[in-house]
Order: sequence, then structure tokens, then C-alpha cells
Amino acid sequence: MVPGQYDRAEKMVELVHGVSGFHPTYRAFHAVGDIYRGTFTPIPEAKQFTRAMHFQQAVPMTVRFSGGGGNPDAPPSTTADMACKFYFPTGRVTGLISLNADTFVAQNVGQVVGFVDATEPDPETGEKDDAKAMAYISSIPTMTSALALRKKIPAPVSFAKTAYHAIHAFRFVNASGNVRRQACLPTGHLPCRSPVFQSCPPRRQ
Ligand code: HEM
Repeated sequence: MVPGQYDRAEKMVELVHGVSGFHPTYRAFHAVGDIYRGTFTPIPEAKQFTRAMHFQQAVPMTVRFSGGGGNPDAPPSTTADMACKFYFPTGRVTGLISLNADTFVAQNVGQVVGFVDATEPDPETGEKDDAKAMAYISSIPTMTSALALRKKIPAPVSFAKTAYHAIHAFRFVNASGNVRRQACLPTGHLPCRSPVFQSCPPRRQ
């Protein structure tokens, strides 16, 4: 998290409401979902890479599986998402969110705002301007390819049979203070299995 994300949180939720409508008592996105309770058991190798408490021992967890959209009355889309919370013995709670897409449309908050602005209907006519949207999308090659890939994602058969991707980059510090950057990838189509940690190529700090 960088401070700028907090600064722009309200603006982001406003934009989301503009896209999905405002539905009191529902989350702005991922409006429909179910929460399950369980135990997270890390694979033994995880300790080598991180001193994070939930990778040292089994901890209680909750998982919320949801669809992506913010309108609870809309038909289900092809998105399936998983939000995990891990409850530490100290009382602290940490989370991990993931999507069934392995890429995200935007690389930063500015691109999200630009995307929403470009795809919103004209406030006066209520019409969408496809040319404006396409021009914005085409100006960002990573957005173009992420949207193309999204279209190819098959509709999930069930939340339990979906592969989830925590797209973020993670900085892991182990008990000896060694630092490495990790991508967190699913090992298969079972969301409750511990993720396998794969090294990212070394990068400058
Ligand atoms: C700028 C990009 C993003 C925006 C604007 C955004 C927006 C949101 C919003 C508004 C919510 C609802 C929060 C609430 O009302 O409690 C949400 C929840 C969620 N987001 Fe994002 N999100 C972004 C990126 C991501 C990414 C990259 C992932 C996964 C890799 C992700 C996964 C999720 C999940 C799984 C939830 C559901 C949380 C739950 O079930 O409690 N989001 N997001």
C-alpha cells in the first residue's frame, strides 16, 4: 500500500458507484458472495521464505467467495474472486485477495480512473462513446492485452473449482532477514491449497 491509495479511496468508490450503481448495504464491487470459515495450513517449505505468522503454523481463516460486479441484481458474470482473512493468535488479522484473472486491467490508480472516465456514458446524452473508450484502451498496451485475456476466461463451474490469482507482488522477509520478491500463484484448481511460492527475477530495490 502506498499513501496515495488511501488519499484516493473515496474518489475510487465514487467511480465504482458510477459504474455499478449505489446499492446500500452491499459492497461497492463484489456485491454478492458467501463467507466460509476454515483453517489455513501452510506448506512446511513456506517458513524458509517468510516469517509471517500464518506461514509458521496453522491459523483460523475465513474466505469470502464473490462475483466481481457491484450490482447485486445483475446476472452472474465470468468473474470469481476470493478474499481470505487469517486470524493470528496475537489478535491481528491479515488478508489476501485474488481474482480468477491472472492479469489486472490497470497498473496504477491513474489508469483505473482514466479507464472509468473513458468508458462512462456522456452525462448529457447518456450515450457511451465507444471511440473514446477504445482510444484510451489502445493507448495502454498492457490494458489492451489484459482486457483481451479477460474475455477468454471461461465461466467458473463453481467457486471451489476455480484457480485464483493474487496478482500483487509480495516482499517476503524470512527469520534470518533475507528478503525476496515473490509472486503468489495457485498450484491447481483448489482454492484452499496453500499457494506455491515462485521466485520473481531479481529487481533493484
Ligand atoms: C484499482 C484497482 C481496484 C479497485 C478500484 C478495486 C475496487 C474494489 C472495491 C470497491 C471493493 C469492495 C470493497 C468493499 O466494499 O468492502 C473491492 C473488493 C475486492 N477486491 Fe478489489 N479493486 C481493485 C483491485 C483489485 C485486485 C488487483 C484484486 C485481486 C488481485 C482485487 C480483489 C478484490 C476482492 C477479492 C474483493 C472482495 C473482498 C471481499 O469479499 O470482502 N481487487 N475491490
